[in-house]
Amino acid sequence: MNVRDEYIKFFESKGHKQIPSSPIVPENDPTVLFNTAGMQPLIPYLMGQSHPYGKRLCDFQKCVRLTDLDGIGDTSHHTFFEMLGNWSLGDYFKKESIGYSFEFLTEVLHIPVDKLAVTVFEGDEKIPRDEVAAARWKELGISEDRIAYLGRSDNFWIAGDSGPCGGDTEIFYFRSDDDTPSKFDPKDDRWVEIWNNVFMEFYQDENGNITELSQKNVDTGMGLERIVAVIEGVDDNYKTSIWKDVIELISDIADLPYEGNEKAMRIIADHIRTATFIIADPAGIKPSNTDRGYILRRLIRRAIRYAKNLNIDITGDFAEKIARLIIKKYSMYYPELNNEEVITSVLRGEQIKFSKTLEKGLREFDKLVKDSNYVDKTVAFKLYDTYGFPIELTVEEASSRGMEVDTLGFEEKFKEHQEKSRTASQGMFKGGLLGHSEIETKYHTATHLLNAALKRVIGDTYQMGSNITTERLRFDFPCDHKLTDEEKKEVEDLVNKWIEEDYPVTVKEMSKDDAVKSGAECRFIEKYPDIVTVYSIGDFSSELCGGPHVEHTGVLGHFKIKKEESSSAGVRRIKAILE
Ligand code: SER
Repeated sequence: MNVRDEYIKFFESKGHKQIPSSPIVPENDPTVLFNTAGMQPLIPYLMGQSHPYGKRLCDFQKCVRLTDLDGIGDTSHHTFFEMLGNWSLGDYFKKESIGYSFEFLTEVLHIPVDKLAVTVFEGDEKIPRDEVAAARWKELGISEDRIAYLGRSDNFWIAGDSGPCGGDTEIFYFRSDDDTPSKFDPKDDRWVEIWNNVFMEFYQDENGNITELSQKNVDTGMGLERIVAVIEGVDDNYKTSIWKDVIELISDIADLPYEGNEKAMRIIADHIRTATFIIADPAGIKPSNTDRGYILRRLIRRAIRYAKNLNIDITGDFAEKIARLIIKKYSMYYPELNNEEVITSVLRGEQIKFSKTLEKGLREFDKLVKDSNYVDKTVAFKLYDTYGFPIELTVEEASSRGMEVDTLGFEEKFKEHQEKSRTASQGMFKGGLLGHSEIETKYHTATHLLNAALKRVIGDTYQMGSNITTERLRFDFPCDHKLTDEEKKEVEDLVNKWIEEDYPVTVKEMSKDDAVKSGAECRFIEKYPDIVTVYSIGDFSSELCGGPHVEHTGVLGHFKIKKEESSSAGVRRIKAILE
């Protein structure tokens, strides 16, 4: 059974619209490295903004969670995973949501009711116990013994420290050949959580104050890997149809069985899959020593390290082969993967760099281990700087040899080094790069005009992503069709008219509440400080934005769309220039 397709079909039959998976790198939200949950791209809509696809949505969303990156290698954790989600944006609430989940699990996936148990929010001084959810579960046939009431740490969900949130009810499945106990014990790890239904009716600010949202939402999330393992009756996610062929390929390449080599094979499979998706993301991340690029580097280098453990030829094409299989498996769902040459060449490039120095770095360890049980800061930094060992990899290598690493000392040296390179790059800036920011500023304002023009021409759309270089702007927006020549012309004409009419670009500081009330486009408002800036142009554009912008539109020149193409399912991309 294809759980993903069945899930979407089921929720469509209940009046939900499928929305495209957003990119893994949340564009326009520099505070978050990667999307960690299906709800993340939907935050503005959970806060009350109207969604172009309506009030009932469903999707499968690419997520990357790095909290236990070092723990990857067990049966059930992944750095990349897909989350099946359905949402009610101020439409149905607890009763229907629980009903849909129950129906999908028992009637579509045919899971026996006897294998299910649930947790419900027990309430606290601020929010009462969730009797409505509990009563609904009982009505559907879940006995009192199979309902556990738990507190905030278990049955309350929020992404990070502030944002839309609420109590939740989690559904568990008894994954064991043992007889299913009649009483549910959430601490018994034979019960695995398969689905989380969050009733998002509150907003929590940075100080922990809770207020009611303007609408009551439902946000549910079910990890695809885990539910597939349940349906296929295996206790190791890597033995499911999702991973089986990838593991077989790695086993072929290494000429070793999976049994006995599970940890290394799982790490290679997991990390290459995540790297493939990160490279394919429209953000165009490349391995580097900062932020997302560093995570990508860590993943690829750790996969190479484990490939070496299996005696795989790390100067060969093992990573590319695995990536090709991943691309083949997923590209029908994620068209951005149809970029095999770029993906494999980025992997190859990183592999060439690291395979050369890995051997030497490991020799350094061998030398050390003879007369010390400690990796001091100088060696840790040399491993990083000369041999390309991410510090986390050094720590892992050290601990497998019973050694400690002076990570604090490493950080000091790392900062000194950064300081030096920053000074160097500032010098470069003085040498002539400064002039570029003026054109980038123009593109920034042109992006707001384009956003406003698209809303007029194709209707209720919005900025899903944007990227500016000195050469052009790039703009992604949800739209279910390729723009016609007439539509493109209309958009261009409108933007050029607004440029000619030379509107002043005004900026106002206001509280977040006032920004929302003013009707400004407020994506990711929860990530902004309490006082935000709203840039407005005429009566057609008003967006929460950090700037910078030009003072009046007349200086932008002539706006021209150079390209209009698909970015991913249901998302179009425009590249445009000012000339
Ligand atoms: N946001 C919740 C989660 O990630 C439900 O989707 O578990």
